Amino acid sequence: MNPSTEVTLVDVDRAVADRLLQLAKRDASPDEVAPPLDGPGWNLERTAWFYSYHQAAAGGLDGPAAEKSWAVFSGSLIAGSVRLKRETSSGTPSGETGIWLGRSFRSRGIGAAALDLVLAEARRAGLKRVSARTLAGNAVAQRLLAAAGAALTHHADGTVLAVVEL
Ligand SMILES: CC(C)(COP(=O)(O)OP(=O)(O)OC[C@H]1O[C@@H](n2cnc3c(N)ncnc32)[C@H](O)[C@@H]1OP(=O)(O)O)[C@@H](O)C(=O)NCCC(=O)NCCS
Repeated sequence: MNPSTEVTLVDVDRAVADRLLQLAKRDASPDEVAPPLDGPGWNLERTAWFYSYHQAAAGGLDGPAAEKSWAVFSGSLIAGSVRLKRETSSGTPSGETGIWLGRSFRSRGIGAAALDLVLAEARRAGLKRVSARTLAGNAVAQRLLAAAGAALTHHADGTVLAVVEL
């Protein structure tokens, strides 16, 4: 990434969601963007999930979904999305995050910058811990999370749990 290209987080309204979906369709795999759902590609079900997810997440950590999503911008270009969800299962105020970028925006430091911004949002919201789950085969995600200070734990189901203490 050009060091002068600023990475910012932008709220996801309908127009931004349209642009994010276009990016996802041309520059990412559906399973990087959406949970496993029946059928291949961006079928109606997956597209409906995408819009309703971002609409619900517009309510923020204190809204009904206890979750906030943002579009990640690199300068004026939409590059991907990141989310933060409040977790209520532990006594420590905690959150869970996840991120995807378009392929053409990867490996340029944008993910690291976006994760820093989300962790700053989590701190501002009073969270003390943020976790993320990825797959054992996803070395880049593990490097990203480790570089942000996460402790990584490998699980027998092939997932890796990353926990950042804030
Ligand atoms: C995971 C993802 C968000 C990382 O963002 P990114 O902008 O590509 O990552 P960065 O350029 O900020 O690099 C983060 C770390 O990974 C390393 N890295 C980046 N690309 C790499 C590559 N192709 N091979 C090896 N290491 C790589 C960087 O060196 C850096 O590690 P370091 O700080 O130890 O040097 C992005 O690759 C992506 O969207 N992947 C698909 C979706 C996904 O896997 N999401 C993660 C779910 S938790």
